[in-house]
Amino acid sequence: MQLWKGRFQKALSKTTNDFNSSISFDSRMFKEDIEGSIAHSAMLGRCGIISQEDADAIGEGLKGILADIESGKLAIDSEAEDIHTFIEGELTARLGDTGKRLHTARSRNDQVAVDIKLYLKKQVDEVTELVKGLVGVICDKAYEHAETVMPGYTHLQRAQPITFGHHLMAYAEMLLRDLSRLSDCKDRMDEMPLGSGALACTTYPIDRTITADLLGFDRITNNSLDGVSDRDYCIEFAAVLSIIMVHLSRFSEEIIMWCSWEFKFVELDDAFSTGSSIMPQKKNPDIAELVRGKSGRVFGDLTTLLTVMKGIALAYNKDMQEDKEAIFDAIDTVKMCLTAFTPMLDTMKVLPQNMRKAAAGGFINATDCADYLVKKGLPFRDAYKATGELVAKCIESGLTLETLPIEEYKKICDIFDEGVYEAIGLEKCAYERSPLGGPNPDNVKKQVERVKGIIREERGIEK
Ligand code: ARG
Repeated sequence: MQLWKGRFQKALSKTTNDFNSSISFDSRMFKEDIEGSIAHSAMLGRCGIISQEDADAIGEGLKGILADIESGKLAIDSEAEDIHTFIEGELTARLGDTGKRLHTARSRNDQVAVDIKLYLKKQVDEVTELVKGLVGVICDKAYEHAETVMPGYTHLQRAQPITFGHHLMAYAEMLLRDLSRLSDCKDRMDEMPLGSGALACTTYPIDRTITADLLGFDRITNNSLDGVSDRDYCIEFAAVLSIIMVHLSRFSEEIIMWCSWEFKFVELDDAFSTGSSIMPQKKNPDIAELVRGKSGRVFGDLTTLLTVMKGIALAYNKDMQEDKEAIFDAIDTVKMCLTAFTPMLDTMKVLPQNMRKAAAGGFINATDCADYLVKKGLPFRDAYKATGELVAKCIESGLTLETLPIEEYKKICDIFDEGVYEAIGLEKCAYERSPLGGPNPDNVKKQVERVKGIIREERGIEK
């Protein structure tokens, strides 16, 4: 069924219809399309543009269609041009002439815009809940490992002692910003485009505030051309989803490294690992690898949206139908990744003794050794140089700063005394980094409480 009868003598060829059709991917918005149409018909009735009887009948008819699709009684026709055409066609089949009045003062251009916004607003909420779930798991693990000493890295070289809880909470902070971005993105898309018509609004005396209220929008779009041709909200959502994937991908990369025999800081639960078809010893972190890999899809979706939109003149162009597969794929992928990642992290076994062993190598307390001299009055640059010489000596003799005899210390700088061993103790070095933001266990526990409080809040974020 095509809506644009009259002007045309021939029907579309099958291949053109298939090429033009979006039903295979926009049918997922059937609920939003019906919600939008119910609000539109109610507004038309209240404004006297169609009779109240017709408005009521259309509303009831649409509710019946919704119930029938949801119960499986009504199958969505894969031959239809799009979901809007299908629902309107079904309504007309059920109500006759009354159904044909639904599209008064409306175009599919403002209809599709309102459908996508209604759909995406719900999806922002769903992604938000999944991110909050992950942040909760991170918080629990971080609390449990607030005292677990591990090496912190820069350039993937052991750098300074931190705690595993502190390391994990870095991801909680990234994800909190993602929650804030999701919330901002939802706020900005909360403008109702219905009433923009095809591009130039309408001469009917519509009241757009009625539809906006019925559909739960915060505001109304202020320019009809913009109302139908804006897809910023898809791009912005895809950008936020891409940033979430950057974070999940970095986290995955670390988990993959930590699972290797070279690190062995963690072990994934069997339920979240896979084996090899040939190498009997293998236990592979496939889930983390897939999350890392799927980030590419989401960045690709963002690039698709940016490219589709960058060169099209105002207002609607059919190019914009390409928005849906991209944003839907980005949403599906991120939801799938979060759904797999969160329980994988939750069940991940942490091996503190291996972290501690790694922390004991690599001279990660060298800064603290220099700081020890500084606290005794030496300028930092001199302390740095003396400690560098000590490290070179240790490397030469196969010792660590902890095992190097005090005489050797004194040979390089006579300020050293036995107190140095306490000052470079790894636990002390990690735990005493206590200014706000540091790895000190009480600090980490306080951060966990703060973050948990934030994700418990209704809106999920501090503004
Ligand atoms: N299926 C179309 C889309 O997704 C709906 C809008 C069609 N409007 C038009 N003028 N052809 O963009």
